[in-house]
This record gives sequence, structure tokens and C-alpha cells, in this order.
Amino acid sequence: MKNKSQIILRSIVLAAGLALLPAAAQASEGVALKQVDWSFNGPFGTFDRPQLKRGFQVYKEVCAACHSIKFVSYRNLSEAGGPQFTEAEVKTIAAAGNVTDGPNADGEMFERPAEPKDRIVKPFPNDNAARAANNGALPPDLSLMAKARKNGPDYLYSVLTGYAEPPEGVVMADGMNFNHYFPGQQIAMPQPLSDDQVTYEDGTPATLDQMAQDVTAFLMWTAEPKLEDRHKLGLKVMMFLVLFAGLLFATYKRVWKDQH
Ligand code: HEC
Repeated sequence: MKNKSQIILRSIVLAAGLALLPAAAQASEGVALKQVDWSFNGPFGTFDRPQLKRGFQVYKEVCAACHSIKFVSYRNLSEAGGPQFTEAEVKTIAAAGNVTDGPNADGEMFERPAEPKDRIVKPFPNDNAARAANNGALPPDLSLMAKARKNGPDYLYSVLTGYAEPPEGVVMADGMNFNHYFPGQQIAMPQPLSDDQVTYEDGTPATLDQMAQDVTAFLMWTAEPKLEDRHKLGLKVMMFLVLFAGLLFATYKRVWKDQH
């Protein structure tokens, strides 16, 4: 009898252990990525609001020159689970962009400042224009990038901080930059971040490392805006399972109590 209950207990512990086991962080080509202790990691992780705000600032002031985040609307920036800018702030942020609307009563399309309901304005009208401005390379949309790559957040952070002079003997193709973590180690994107590239509104020193972490956290939110809801639900399910396992175990003990 003792054996059976031990086996059950062990399986519960093992199952819980497996569920919490972190995946080993590696880029697709086997280069070990830098690992960051993200606030949103783990089953109970949450986003750090000030970090999401700083990350949006980096996106807006640096990355938005080349990359779109086409699945995000301005109003999302004030919603629960995200950076939670105030609605007034979102209006101001939106008004800096221009969108084509229409047709008006005369059948003409017209330009107007963006509003909270609009998608965040893209830097280029189409992919060809984006390529033409980037030496033939297409800056991909970043909304889902943190989920599209293996170990996305660590990968993004590693790429953003992974530029270096090409090692001796490595021949770089025209217009390409050496990066330890990009597959093939030659990337068309010039190093986008360097110390003090932005001046943070909250006074945080804008080191390369800080900006890379902040913009990555922001891009994790754009890729998974419901992450916090999912973690909260996961916690409830885990609590339910633990209680349920306890109940089952008590029932089991009771049902078999007179059997030897
Ligand atoms: C001057 C334009 C430019 C700026 C500014 C820029 N990028 Fe890029 N980015 C590119 C181009 C071009 C590529 C495509 C690279 C390639 O395919 O070799 C790219 C690719 C990427 C990739 C894709 C890596 C992959 O695995 O495919 C990520 C992630 C990325 N950029 C993030 C950022 C972030 C974050 C910022 C802001 C901090 C930023 N970029 C700023 C031009 C830019």
C-alpha cells in the first residue's frame, strides 16, 4: 500500500517538475544565446510597466524608422496588460502619425492625423519601398517576432547586442554587418542601438543593454498581449489541480483503508 501512494506522489512531483522545466536557450543554428532573467518568464511572470513604456519609446524613436508593428493599434497602448499609457497620452502619440482616409463627400481620399483606433502607422507604404530604402533587404514586421523565433526574447536581445567587427578571415558581403547571433552571422540591419541613443522620459540611463532589454520586452508584449491573462489562468488551473489531486488522494486512502 505504501508503495502505491509513494508512486502517486512521485508522479505528481515529476509532472509538476516537467511543467516548470525551462527550455534550454539556443538559437536555431546552435549558437548559445545570451540569457536574460525577464520579468515575464516563468509561469507567474508579468510585464514591468515602466519597462514596456521605455520599450515603446525605443521602438518609436529607433526601430520605427524601418520596422512596422502592423498588428498593434494605438489604443492597445492604453489597455490592461500592456504599457498602459493614459488615453490622453495615446491621443498625442497617435496624432504624430498620418493616415490616408476617405473617400470624402467629393470622392477624394485625404490625409489626417492618426487616432487611437488606427493601426500604428508603418514606416513604408509597401515592401518594395522598404527594400529600396534598405539596400534590398526587407525589415520584417516586428509585431510577432518575439514569438516567431526560437527563444524569441533572448534571441532579440542577443541580436541587438551581438554586433562586432568581423573576425579575421571572414569575408562580409556588400552592405552586411557581422552579428554573432543572426543565422549566418551577416545581417543587413546596421547596428540600431548604441549607448544614449534615446533619452528616457523616466530618467533610466539609456545603455545599449537597457534599451535592448526594454524594446525586447515591448516586442514580447506586442507578440503576446494576453500573456498576463494566460499566466493568471495557469495559476488558477495549477491550484485547482493540486487541490483536486489532494482530494483524489484522500478518497483513495479512504476507499482502500480496510484492504491489506
Ligand atoms: C535602418 C533600418 C533599420 C532599423 C533602424 C532597425 N532595423 Fe531591424 N532590420 C532591418 C533590416 C533591413 C532587417 C533585415 C535583415 C536581414 O534580413 O539581413 C532587419 C531585421 C531585424 C530583425 C530580424 C532578425 C531575424 O531573425 O530575422 C529584428 C528582430 C530586428 N530587425 C529588430 C530591430 C529592432 C528591435 C530595432 C530597433 C531597436 C531595429 N530592428 C531597427 C533594418 C532596420
